Amino acid sequence: QHPLVVAVDGPAGSGKSSVSKAVARRLGYGFLDTGAAYRALAWHVAHSGVDPEDTAAVVASLDAFDYGIGTDPDGYRVRVGEHDVTEAIREPRISGIVSAVARVPEVRAHLIGLFRAIIAAELRPGIVVEGRDITTVVAPDAQVRILLTASEEVRMSRRAAELAGHDAAATGAQLRARDRADSKVVDFLNAAEGVTLVDSTELDFGQTIDAVISVIRAAD
Ligand code: C5P
Repeated sequence: QHPLVVAVDGPAGSGKSSVSKAVARRLGYGFLDTGAAYRALAWHVAHSGVDPEDTAAVVASLDAFDYGIGTDPDGYRVRVGEHDVTEAIREPRISGIVSAVARVPEVRAHLIGLFRAIIAAELRPGIVVEGRDITTVVAPDAQVRILLTASEEVRMSRRAAELAGHDAAATGAQLRARDRADSKVVDFLNAAEGVTLVDSTELDFGQTIDAVISVIRAAD
């Protein structure tokens, strides 16, 4: 029996990472944060001294990109070579360059191949995969496909709370710039055919988890 694949897409700050992880934990499923892989590559590019706007150099850096992204929702860690980059990939300097790296077609093809291999190998009863193009490109045949959204205002304030200590206005501007850049590459603002929209604007964290779980139960 094939594991149940739950694909969750949404914009930055929609809460899809924390919600998807909590859903995976509750159901005993695996969890794959695809944004973390793009962020890990952005970290690798910066660490190698490569200009993130230099497409050819970014593509060349894929060869030496040795990384590990876990599928365990408990204690989820991200590694590049010898480095544990779990915290570093969340820093504004990485958020500021990740879109430039993620728009390169060879980068996307490389990472999408990896994501599909992880999904196919995942032996748990299911896996929750979250990102921007999971419902449409990575796993369009997933049994459950969800677009998680929230109003821009709510997304900004959630992200500002998450990044307490950073400048809220700068964080908001970066989030908007990232959504604008990312949405030129993949459409994660409109639900594709067959994708269930979950709007968390009026929901708290627990209610959003429940809403996602009821979509999964309805499909199972
Ligand atoms: O989800 P998160 O905000 O961590 O994603 C970081 C970046 O990775 C996004 O801004 C986007 O550029 C890229 N990304 C992507 N496709 C995905 C997931 C993330 O292009 N499926």
